[in-house]
Amino acid sequence: MFETLQPLPQDPILQLMQTFREDNRPDKVDLGIGVYKDDAGNTPIMAAVHEAERRLLEGETTKSYVGPAGSTGFNSAMAELILGSNSPLVRDGRVSVIQTPGGCGALRMAAEFLRLCKADTKVWVSTPTWANHLPLLGGAGLTIREYPYLNPETLQVDFGAMLETLERADAGDVVLLHGCCHNPSGADLSLAQWQEVTSLIQRKGLLPFVDMAYQGLGEGLDADAAGLRHLASAVPEMLIAGSCSKNFGLYRERTGALALVSETATVNAAATSQLLSVIRSHYSMPPAHGASIVETILGDDDLRAQWQQELNGMCERILHLRHAFAGALSSFGDFEFIARQRGMFSFLGISPEQVGRLRKEHGIYMLESSRVNVAGLNDHVLPQVASALREVLGK
Ligand code: LMR
Repeated sequence: MFETLQPLPQDPILQLMQTFREDNRPDKVDLGIGVYKDDAGNTPIMAAVHEAERRLLEGETTKSYVGPAGSTGFNSAMAELILGSNSPLVRDGRVSVIQTPGGCGALRMAAEFLRLCKADTKVWVSTPTWANHLPLLGGAGLTIREYPYLNPETLQVDFGAMLETLERADAGDVVLLHGCCHNPSGADLSLAQWQEVTSLIQRKGLLPFVDMAYQGLGEGLDADAAGLRHLASAVPEMLIAGSCSKNFGLYRERTGALALVSETATVNAAATSQLLSVIRSHYSMPPAHGASIVETILGDDDLRAQWQQELNGMCERILHLRHAFAGALSSFGDFEFIARQRGMFSFLGISPEQVGRLRKEHGIYMLESSRVNVAGLNDHVLPQVASALREVLGK
């Protein structure tokens, strides 16, 4: 049965990660996959995470099953992190939060759930969007439609074009929005723009689905969630995919959450039972370790403060690098947009051929689209990257 299968190319982001690892040049620079790096180019385990793991190891008494929804303690902590403390949605029983294997698990289970609700569900995604959104959502059988998001010339949000296209969506269509730190562009909606999108979603009866993969890495935990929280306060139904990969640095532990908002508590209870049945038929239950770490950190005042301080440090470092990078490139081009954008990613706006030259001739890795992970830079490699870029641009 297997002999008819043809080999598939690897996912471009993962392929780039592998090619980088196999490159022996000592001065290579990884601006590819979206992982945070410190000044030494490492992706360290956060101190709060280390301490939580130590406590878990000492205090853990069983490895027995948890259940398809995961840990209730983790789920309540994530509800507060994403929706804010004292959220009326939590108070009124209108939201359930379910632990998932990473943000990908949340995205896919939401897609499977949406297909169960309506077999011909359409989901509108931004152009561009994270490449893995397409197989995660399309693979569950949802029909993908695209709305323009980024003006390729200015590398800024084309808000007029976005609204104009979403006006053509049908009631019941799903709109996927990036909560903050848009991947791959770094170009975020302002709060005023979130408010306008919210009005459009309300007026047209669309279902918002927010991918919140980078909370805390744009401007801070609450600032990054302001648009999402406004939307959540205004609509009857909504889905949110949360992730602890970046803000807790738990990438390989696969730790995420799916929030399901319904119009009433009764509807929410029924909808959640359906979602849990979907989960049971896919992976049965999520892995426990990463969620236990998060629950331990968020449930302890000192650990939580330590984690917030570390996260703020990461956020500030990215903001510093954004300004330093834009400054280093300013002598041969206008890259000021990099300083204005948020999160790990920005496009440089150079051609695939120039991207290829940076990789081959200078050992500088970025996605073919010219998406760079700003967090992969540091003050030491900045001049090297700036001069290589100047050379391939012929300036
Ligand atoms: C990225 O966009 O680089 C990250 O979200 C990692 C991934 O899985 O693609």
